[in-house]
Amino acid sequence: MNPGDFSFAVSLTDVEDWAYVEEDFDRLLGYEPEGCFIAEIEKQPVGLTTATSYGPMAWIGNVIVDEEFRGTGIGAQLVRTAVDYLASVGVKTVHLTSYVSTIRFYERLGFRQEFPVSTMSIATAGFDSPDVDVAKETDLERIAALDAAYLGGDRSRIIRRMWRDFPRLLLMNDVPAGYVIATCTEKCCEIGPLIVESGSPDAAEQLLRGILGSVLADRARMFVPHANPRATELVESLGFEEDFRTMRMVHGEVNEAERTEGIYALGALEKG
Ligand SMILES: CC(C)(COP(=O)(O)OP(=O)(O)OC[C@H]1O[C@@H](n2cnc3c(N)ncnc32)[C@H](O)[C@@H]1OP(=O)(O)O)[C@@H](O)C(=O)NCCC(=O)NCCS
Repeated sequence: MNPGDFSFAVSLTDVEDWAYVEEDFDRLLGYEPEGCFIAEIEKQPVGLTTATSYGPMAWIGNVIVDEEFRGTGIGAQLVRTAVDYLASVGVKTVHLTSYVSTIRFYERLGFRQEFPVSTMSIATAGFDSPDVDVAKETDLERIAALDAAYLGGDRSRIIRRMWRDFPRLLLMNDVPAGYVIATCTEKCCEIGPLIVESGSPDAAEQLLRGILGSVLADRARMFVPHANPRATELVESLGFEEDFRTMRMVHGEVNEAERTEGIYALGALEKG
């Protein structure tokens, strides 16, 4: 993929209502310049996927093929290309989040089911402005260290770029330590990652109320891992409703360093 492919990427993913704008692909390509792929037939783009690595682990996302060319092996080739690329840069664990309808497709490519992830959304009206701090540049290293302690991978460049693009939407807590980010474009507003030390539900609630009071969009959504049952309990108690459910899957080694008890929201379906 290169920047000339962004408009194709937006129009292809619009078919599935993934709500991308070109800056989203600019961010994904910036995170992993060699790990975003376009499938072509006779020089015409017909599919794409993106990978994002965090040291020994990585995510594959945005696997999509033009409807006209589905069922001809392109999707499988895209996933294999991304997995091979990730292995070549030393990744041992590859995750992705699959629709229920595509679990079988990924299983055939060697992925295993881990746990469901719910896409939950809520109207933001009624949440007040936050009682939590907006992070400063000097906080980013500390936030990245907290994030790595729960994810088991290094997401510092992603956190830095999101802070640069959405400086008022990275909120943090000191004790217990926690942080939340929201990314809001004209098409949609997503909350996550949301991570708190020791998995404290009170700290998670404070951050979540804070970010709901900070975003300007009417609705926000987040991706909630069932591996942390307190996350589902919290978002339901605040009034979030489930839109649909996906399955987190893994390829390769299990990431033993991940501590899901502190993870209340994923960064996004396509990049964990
Ligand atoms: C899912 C998707 C990427 C598959 O791409 P594709 O090019 O049609 O898939 P392929 O032709 O490479 O299929 C590879 C194999 O998986 C099978 N397969 C494809 N989609 C499947 C599905 N939804 N369920 C079960 N098996 C499936 C194919 O039959 C094929 O089997 P074979 O090797 O025995 O022939 C494509 O259908 C798509 O773009 N869907 C919409 C976007 C989407 O849902 N993406 C996944 C996000 S998690």
